[in-house]
Amino acid sequence: AMRAELNRLANAIQDMKARRNFQNEMDHFYSLFTRYLSEKAKGTKLDWDKVHEPKPDQIIPYDQLPVGESPEHLNKLAVLKLNGGLGTTMGCVGPKSAIEVRDGMTFLDLSVRQIEYLNSKYDVNVPFILMNSFNTDDDTMRIIQKYGSHKIDILTFNQSRYPRINKESLLPMPRSPASDISQWYPPGHGDVFESMYNSGILDKLIAEGKEYVFISNVDNLGAVVDLNILKYMVDSDAEFIMEVTNKTKADIKGGTLIDYEDTVRLLEVAQVPAEHMEDFKSINKFKIFNTNNLWINLKAIKRVTEEKELNLEVIVNNKTLDNGVKAIQLETAVGAAIKHFRNAHGVNVPRSRFLPVKSTSDLFLVTSDLYSLNHGELTMNPKRLFQTVPLVKLGDEFKKVSNFLARFQSPPHILELDHLTVTGDVTFGAGVQLKGTVIIVANHGSRIDIPPYSVLENKVVSGNLRI
Ligand code: UTP
Repeated sequence: AMRAELNRLANAIQDMKARRNFQNEMDHFYSLFTRYLSEKAKGTKLDWDKVHEPKPDQIIPYDQLPVGESPEHLNKLAVLKLNGGLGTTMGCVGPKSAIEVRDGMTFLDLSVRQIEYLNSKYDVNVPFILMNSFNTDDDTMRIIQKYGSHKIDILTFNQSRYPRINKESLLPMPRSPASDISQWYPPGHGDVFESMYNSGILDKLIAEGKEYVFISNVDNLGAVVDLNILKYMVDSDAEFIMEVTNKTKADIKGGTLIDYEDTVRLLEVAQVPAEHMEDFKSINKFKIFNTNNLWINLKAIKRVTEEKELNLEVIVNNKTLDNGVKAIQLETAVGAAIKHFRNAHGVNVPRSRFLPVKSTSDLFLVTSDLYSLNHGELTMNPKRLFQTVPLVKLGDEFKKVSNFLARFQSPPHILELDHLTVTGDVTFGAGVQLKGTVIIVANHGSRIDIPPYSVLENKVVSGNLRI
């Protein structure tokens, strides 16, 4: 029934070329769908007895990489940012990468700065590639058009657009190829391989003599090009390197690398049987997690995509649409592809290479004086005594970016902050300093305004006070 419905959608397209592209996309979607059905019937295929901690040679500590810069390798490199996602968690309507982080510059602008700096420092021309989705393409193009006159090659392509599935009937939600965008979805960043292939970007890069691509999340401003890892990638003949970093108690959700029948695999929380969840979360057994900073050989991507051996674990994402209808969308993760590449392994990098913005609490940190900005790269302020990041929990009133921005007249100074919790209707005047542990709780129906230039050190502010 699904197949017939997809054919009906395709046949509704008049233009033959557009129809072929659509059919190709739906073929990939259909193969994901059938894998979903068979996994649903058979249950998860992971045999927990075969899940082992990675062997020492499967994860190399960053400080054991041979040092020595070989900037000439940059001529073989392309940098790609995953930019298909919306910042829905933070209440954005547009792409997350369009949020302004520092000095009026968005994630996109800062990433462009990083590459411009790299290119001018080493006199190279590393292309900057964005994987957009139908959700992010328009806004992204608007932001990057100002770089048309700059000396940087920016390439974009769109990832696939798959139909959401009605949870009850298991039929596609869209009734026509032109149905509203709420009926479609971008199928996760695991789609990057097929989309690079289908868009022609992959062949174009290979034809230009590029051999490697460095992929990362667009909101990770710590994911700068690292010459040591690049050199190691070249020297070790690895087709795939995943940057991992040590887990802390706050990182229990991230995927981890495991040894499974002598190959390196990514283990995601969704694959873990309930009885082993404690094991998975513990930082003793699985010490590291995936930063999604990935270095991949381009020809290997081509081989793996052409041989159709890509078999990435299906991630089922349940959605309730505005009209109340329950839908599912099937997604895949790029890191799961590690098992398909030869000589793949992890490199355990310093935490500074993982600086994601998943929530406004993260945004609070990256917009503050805790970091300074150098050529688009955020580095921790050397004036911070301990190189650890404060634990920040902002309440629901701060959840959306617009509310978050409205509640701070300017970003507080937090060089000496260890822990901040804010709940309820709280606003901050300009130039506030927060030190040590600060807890601010406005009870329901009340409001707390922190006056400009206040200094709060190891303080609990609660109730209905206007201090
Ligand atoms: P994720 O969706 O894994 O994490 O996207 P996130 O940014 O935390 O999103 P939420 O808040 O949990 O929903 C990681 C990166 O992958 C991109 C996103 O734009 C982000 O840079 N991405 C995600 C895509 O490019 N395509 C997708 O289909 C999904």
